[in-house]
Amino acid sequence: MGTVSIAQHPSKSHQTLTIEPGAERGLQGAIALPGDKSISHRALMLGALAVGKTEIRGLLLGEDPRSTADCFRAMGAQISELNSDCVMVEGIGLGQLHEPADVLNAGNSGTTMRLMLGLLASQPQRFFAVTGDASLRSRPMNRVIQPLQQMGAAIASRHGGYAPLAVQGRELTPIHYQSPIASAQVKSCILLAGLLTPGKTIVTEPALSRDHSERMLRAFGATVEVDPERISAAVVGPSRLVGQSVQVPGDISSAAFWLVAGAIAPHAELVLNQVGVNPTRTGILDVLHQMNADITLENQRDVAGEPVADLRVRSSTLRACTIAGDLIPRLIDEIPILAVAAAFAQGTTIIRDAAELRVKESDRLAVMATQLAQMGAQVTELPDGLEITGGAPLHGAELDSYTDHRIAMSLAIAALNATGTTTIHRAEAAAISYPDFVPTLQRLLS
Ligand code: S3P
Repeated sequence: MGTVSIAQHPSKSHQTLTIEPGAERGLQGAIALPGDKSISHRALMLGALAVGKTEIRGLLLGEDPRSTADCFRAMGAQISELNSDCVMVEGIGLGQLHEPADVLNAGNSGTTMRLMLGLLASQPQRFFAVTGDASLRSRPMNRVIQPLQQMGAAIASRHGGYAPLAVQGRELTPIHYQSPIASAQVKSCILLAGLLTPGKTIVTEPALSRDHSERMLRAFGATVEVDPERISAAVVGPSRLVGQSVQVPGDISSAAFWLVAGAIAPHAELVLNQVGVNPTRTGILDVLHQMNADITLENQRDVAGEPVADLRVRSSTLRACTIAGDLIPRLIDEIPILAVAAAFAQGTTIIRDAAELRVKESDRLAVMATQLAQMGAQVTELPDGLEITGGAPLHGAELDSYTDHRIAMSLAIAALNATGTTTIHRAEAAAISYPDFVPTLQRLLS
């Protein structure tokens, strides 16, 4: 059925994933997904800020939540060793973050850096320095620095908006921020800054981004108001958070790789257990249904304030579609794997309004366009999207993840359905959000 192997590159410090698809590419079985990345970050952060104990079950054990845990440990929170059974967090209380003796390192994680900035900026009389890896140091931070400065924050940055950053915490004043972009990281940063700020801090978005912060803040006892018509969310400070028990659902952004793998492979039937299906995240399901994918939602239920379902996907013949507008924030992380789906669909898929992808862990529009083209796909890069004409058979190629986890996994799924051998360099990036991705792929093919 094909083979998948991962090996240390002999001359470089990275790993190369080699995929040789077999003649018969059936994919069958059940998959337990890693915990949702967005919810994992928030559970660790709110647990650290709460009074009392927080228990987190199903936490994502990827590199990104580890960065969050390490930063908050450095500021005094007691967080047990990370495991997916039960992580215990002993919170220190809002406004009680210790001044760390060294630089806080958010690694590759934009969520860690941006959400944390709201908290640091609002801690009076403490100084914080924050950095990240090469990818994160090239990602724009002005989108959070500017609104925080409107609240009175003192933040200095490199090259006018890039990490490393220096934050002198102080008491802030509330604002009503009209965000020019639909970004949960921006919204959450401002709401977190509002927790300690006396009065009502409001964020309005042009389209609704994921609402995990609003849900979890409320569950931890903060006063949160949402206005679905105006697409705004508000926090009333000063708040007090109380430790909770959190069950992290499976990450729909990780499920997306198997949804597309199952839809495009012949003779496939995969069941993905306990996947978060929060409506602010299910754009991928809407689009795949529109593309004629055979996906059913089973056993729908609520788990700790988040809707969850088991997803079953079977092989199908995909059709092209258009992905644009308000849908984009609901599938922002799934566009690389949707580009793969489009390469196997009949007709021309158009993705627009997705310029945000250029400032993710890599420039995902440019990288997906060049890497899929190496495999023989017909792709045109647009300023804010991609145009992909499906149906051209893909062939194996030598590819690069550009250290981006979602690119590494998307290309692996494309490679499974190509003829010949594909090598993906810097494939270890998958561990950012899905440490078991390669072993799961190996198990499905064995
Ligand atoms: C996230 C928000 C999104 C998403 C990221 C996680 C979050 O980023 O791409 O992977 O947890 O808030 P933006 O807010 O920049 O769109």
